Amino acid sequence: MMMPSAVLLVLSFVGVVVGLASAGSSAHLNIRFPEGQAESFIKALNLVPGAAEVSFIELDSPKLVESPISIHVHGDPDSSISAEQLGQHAGYFRLQNTHASRMFYLFFESRRDKASDPIVLWMSGGPGCSSELALFYENGPFQITNNLTLVWNEHGWDKVSNLIFVDQPIGTGFSYSSDLRDIRHDETGVSEDVYSFLQAFFEAHPEFRENELYITGESYAGHYVPAVTSRIHQGNKAGEGLLLNLKGFAIGNGLTDPEIQYKAYADYALEMGLISEEVRDKLNKLYPACDLSIKMCGTSGKVACVASYLVCNSIFNGIMAMIGNVNYYDIRKECSGSLCYDFSKMEIYLNQPSVKDALGVGHRKFVSCSPLVYEMMLVDWMRNLEVGIPTLLEDGIKLLVYAGEYDLICNWLGNSRWVSEINWSGKQNYSTASTKPFLVQGEQAGIMTNFGPLTFLKVHDAGHMVPMDQPKAALEMIERFTHGGSLEELPFDIIKQVVNDGGM
Ligand SMILES: *[C@@H]1O[C@H](CO)[C@@H](O)[C@H](O)[C@H]1NC(C)=O
Ligand SMILES: *[C@@H]1O[C@H](CO)[C@@H](O)[C@H](O)[C@H]1NC(C)=O
Ligand SMILES: *[C@@H]1O[C@H](CO)[C@@H](O)[C@H](O)[C@H]1NC(C)=O
Repeated sequence: MMMPSAVLLVLSFVGVVVGLASAGSSAHLNIRFPEGQAESFIKALNLVPGAAEVSFIELDSPKLVESPISIHVHGDPDSSISAEQLGQHAGYFRLQNTHASRMFYLFFESRRDKASDPIVLWMSGGPGCSSELALFYENGPFQITNNLTLVWNEHGWDKVSNLIFVDQPIGTGFSYSSDLRDIRHDETGVSEDVYSFLQAFFEAHPEFRENELYITGESYAGHYVPAVTSRIHQGNKAGEGLLLNLKGFAIGNGLTDPEIQYKAYADYALEMGLISEEVRDKLNKLYPACDLSIKMCGTSGKVACVASYLVCNSIFNGIMAMIGNVNYYDIRKECSGSLCYDFSKMEIYLNQPSVKDALGVGHRKFVSCSPLVYEMMLVDWMRNLEVGIPTLLEDGIKLLVYAGEYDLICNWLGNSRWVSEINWSGKQNYSTASTKPFLVQGEQAGIMTNFGPLTFLKVHDAGHMVPMDQPKAALEMIERFTHGGSLEELPFDIIKQVVNDGGM
């Protein structure tokens, strides 16, 4: 749910909050578009490319235009495969179900075993923040140095998976359209577009069709991930298109069930010593109106949903008013910059002509987080995306919800509460399951609760962006989740580690 530099990345989610917290409650709520302003909105949305760009992907070009990227990275990729042998691709997909959308993605084949490692799709939040925020600052194959070169990330998730970063909804990152009707404002549109992208991806890559598929993301992707996973599952059940080998989904510090998560803000802030009991009690008096407005959003749609966003965020804003310049993605830190972190290197890096050439993105300007995509998705914000999850769990699709313990905006408390409230056959057993340590090389990196296909993990010493703050634990987490499902450290892992440390 946030993503502008600190805000945008983490901020797929953050962007939203930042808008609210810093711009006041009305500046970002400009959701009516007078006719005359349409053109400037289109430009801001990266919707209308210049003439040169229109021709760079013709309307009648194949659905998927993908090419290998060759970007210089310092050092070697720390595997038996050389950088040249690694398959790293950038591409655009022409979304068939839209008027003129092009969805941008980056695809990194596994540095370990591309034939048997799973496919992991990652979506950052915002809404409107590019997944390149995660690529360069969290779990991607490389990181940007201060001198704007790239170095390998030894904890990139491509070390254990074939990793796809997609820029969506349309208007985000390098994705674009030349038709305003393609702008998304709900999870139906989002999930349809991503499903359509995945169909085209596997059509173009038959060699990956048997690999297990996992849908993952962070922050506002707490909305996207369940919606996309449900869409795939429905498509599979209905025998639509290619059968996708869907096995699980993971949400990191997400916003999924606002009714429960907005109630948790005051409790979390109290528990972390940010506010007093008196303030907590005052904030709790705001909650019934928020709760009612969320219920109205659930039944009557758009206007009620925007109203609900305003009403409920008075709780979050109330906390921010008390705690000042605290970084709401990591309460141990100060907020500096529009996204509370400095992600400016990425914008500079991606806007270099040589990099754009390597990525095949024409002259498109890269923006970490799009405020307009954010605004267009406001009606989606307070929707409850937990509702589709029981069916997935009953059908054995695994879910991992993880949360860094110092994040306020999508805090672990609210997340653990909605996970406990999922209405599925294992609810009772999950509620009585014992909490266990999450061990990484014998050290406790978090605590977890599991029953059957459902796992919740609270990650120690991390804020909103877990793979940035705890890269090693995050890599272990995704490897164990996608290779077997249990997050328990097996003796095998310890043995493997010993062998690795021994120089093999
Ligand atoms: C840029 O930084 C990287 C890593 O810090 C270093 O290896 C590289 O030599 C630097 N390049 C230049 C041109 O200074
Ligand atoms: C929980 O699921 C059961 C079975 O699908 C349903 O009958 C019940 O109404 C649900 N309860 C809630 C609170 O949604
Ligand atoms: C779930 O809980 C019920 C009742 O406590 C128990 O009988 C059952 O064995 C549990 N199921 C599993 C798979 O642990």
